[in-house]
Amino acid sequence: MSTGKLAGRVAVVTGSGNGLGAECARVLAELGARVVVVDIDGEAAATVTDALVASGAQAMAVCTDVSSEDAVQAMIAEVKARFGRLDVLHNNAAVLGAEQRNRDRDLANLDMQAWDRAIAVNLRGAVLCTKHAIPLMLEQGKGSIIFATSGLGMQGDMSLTGYATSKAALMMLPKLVAAQYGKRGIRGNAIQIGLAPQHPLPEALLDIMRDNHCTPELGTPRQIADVVAFLASDESAFVTGTTLVADGGFSSHTPSLVAMRALFEKLGRSGL
Ligand SMILES: NC(=O)c1ccc[n+]([C@@H]2O[C@H](COP(=O)([O-])OP(=O)(O)OC[C@H]3O[C@@H](n4cnc5c(N)ncnc54)[C@H](O)[C@@H]3O)[C@@H](O)[C@H]2O)c1
Repeated sequence: MSTGKLAGRVAVVTGSGNGLGAECARVLAELGARVVVVDIDGEAAATVTDALVASGAQAMAVCTDVSSEDAVQAMIAEVKARFGRLDVLHNNAAVLGAEQRNRDRDLANLDMQAWDRAIAVNLRGAVLCTKHAIPLMLEQGKGSIIFATSGLGMQGDMSLTGYATSKAALMMLPKLVAAQYGKRGIRGNAIQIGLAPQHPLPEALLDIMRDNHCTPELGTPRQIADVVAFLASDESAFVTGTTLVADGGFSSHTPSLVAMRALFEKLGRSGL
């Protein structure tokens, strides 16, 4: 029996067949949680689940499209049938494949089907999972709901209009969870996630991103999963209704910082 800070808890992580979600599933399991690996890609969910089970954790894969209310309802019913409770919901799923990115462009060139899909998965999906998780959490008078958002939901960029607006809207949801269910023991928080690459990216791009961080390096999936684990656990019992920024200071400095640093270096002054 695990003595980790999530021992005995049941955690649903959506979109955990790949990427940051899979890392979150691993870290929550490492800390003692029984993890439900939810993904539209059933094979990926099964692979992550098999690895968790092989490491000694209790885990279950559920193939679910989070944008479908019937599918989400069925997924929560499966969680109840298998584990009898739900302590943590991490709304991590997002539609981010190359095809989606190529169509979710600047406003004048936006493919409205891509916009609809971004809103359906990233926003409606999180709302649906939250809607159906709350009654189960209320049964035990406790729960933590986490929303994965992004710097692109806070700051303008050249593309990904649907993604950005869905992520901006997600920042309202923890406040609603806190206001509507806080007195009954349910907390809601979002994480504004910075760049935590899981695949190699072009060095020129990484250099630009690194220059704009206030940390020596870019983030890692483990660092994001550690923040999810904090919000999932009682260590954050007094934290609710907020968005916690985990982006290495990317969004915390003046827009001119990098150019100023280069100018001062050129002029032979240090100190920045
Ligand atoms: N990776 C980063 O650097 C970064 C930065 C900022 C924010 N984020 C956020 O973190 C989360 C995870 O990002 P990632 O980079 O790991 O993405 P990813 O594309 O690697 O993983 C997303 C997962 O969601 C699943 N998914 C897609 N549509 C779904 C649906 N309809 N129902 C259920 N599952 C579905 C995919 O199959 C995939 O397994 C996202 O919410 C993303 O916006 C990531």
